[in-house]
Amino acid sequence: MSIDQKYIEAIKAGDIVAFPTETVYGLGADAWNPDAIQKVFTIKGRPSDNPLIVHVSHPKQVYEFAKTVPDKALKLIEAFWPGPFTIIFKKKPEVLDAVTAGLDTVAIRMPDHPLTVDFISQTGPLVAPSANKSGKPSPTKAGHVIEDFGNSVLVIDGGATNIGLESTVFDLTDIQPAILRPGSISRKQVEDVLHEKVAESFFHHLKTPRSPGQKYSHYKPKAEVQWLSGTPDPLNKEVLYLLLTPEISGPNVINYNGKLDHLAKELYDRFRQADHDGFSYIAIEPFDGLNDHPVVPALLNRIEKALS
Ligand code: TXA
Ligand code: MG
Repeated sequence: MSIDQKYIEAIKAGDIVAFPTETVYGLGADAWNPDAIQKVFTIKGRPSDNPLIVHVSHPKQVYEFAKTVPDKALKLIEAFWPGPFTIIFKKKPEVLDAVTAGLDTVAIRMPDHPLTVDFISQTGPLVAPSANKSGKPSPTKAGHVIEDFGNSVLVIDGGATNIGLESTVFDLTDIQPAILRPGSISRKQVEDVLHEKVAESFFHHLKTPRSPGQKYSHYKPKAEVQWLSGTPDPLNKEVLYLLLTPEISGPNVINYNGKLDHLAKELYDRFRQADHDGFSYIAIEPFDGLNDHPVVPALLNRIEKALS
């Protein structure tokens, strides 16, 4: 499938186009067009001090934005791009303040989605926050984007996204390299590439988080999100159960049979579903026994932010 030219023309005309990635849908605008970028902040309702990720179609485009590209970054690009891994670089002076919210760094990633890589190779680099209105969960389907924005943006429909949680954000501009946002690429995978320890800097209690996005409150569904305690009651119509233990089933039970990546892929969709269907509670089965899975820190981070 090739990209309809209308999407490319829209970007070139300074409009916004939502596109799929392997993580969540992004709200794309030309990374060199300040008016287009301003539109993204306006329609999303995003605070102006929260910087955007630049999405590229080829690693060489990093040199358009980054003042220096350290050897460590090259190793990480080699290992994880295209993929759900965002790297923070020192920025070139010409990178727009609207992109970086005035910081001296810029976040860049190459998404792993053939349609989108083709798209960006024809438009040039695009900034793209997750394509949800601020205060809603990130969209994992084209329908979610339309739910939030109606017909006010064009959406390239690439079906449901594979991973379902936003990319890992990794900062190596500081003396201490750190993961600023956990994603499906884990700390251990990063350490295995760099052969050194990396820090994690995404706890809520940090007074001055290194990633501005961390200080904004996250989406909470209208239903109360809770960790399941005790035995589920599949007949309780008030509760949507998200379970991992294979045996239990019922009308309000979604059973992931121990597959955490499947839970991650569907989590935001289930949050939206619970709101539509008027559930009072979402009970998620704890996954203490599955802690070796690389997606655990990202999944815990998103669930903990949604807990009531
Ligand atoms: O998977 C993803 O990363 C998705 C898809 C669309 O690519 N995008 C996404 O964008 O999640 P957004 O804007 O919702 O989240 C970007 C995060 C925010 O927490 C922001 O603060 C952080 O990245 N960020 C961006 N630039 C930064 C910088 N220069 N320094 C530190 N954090 C930065
Ligand atoms: Mg977001």
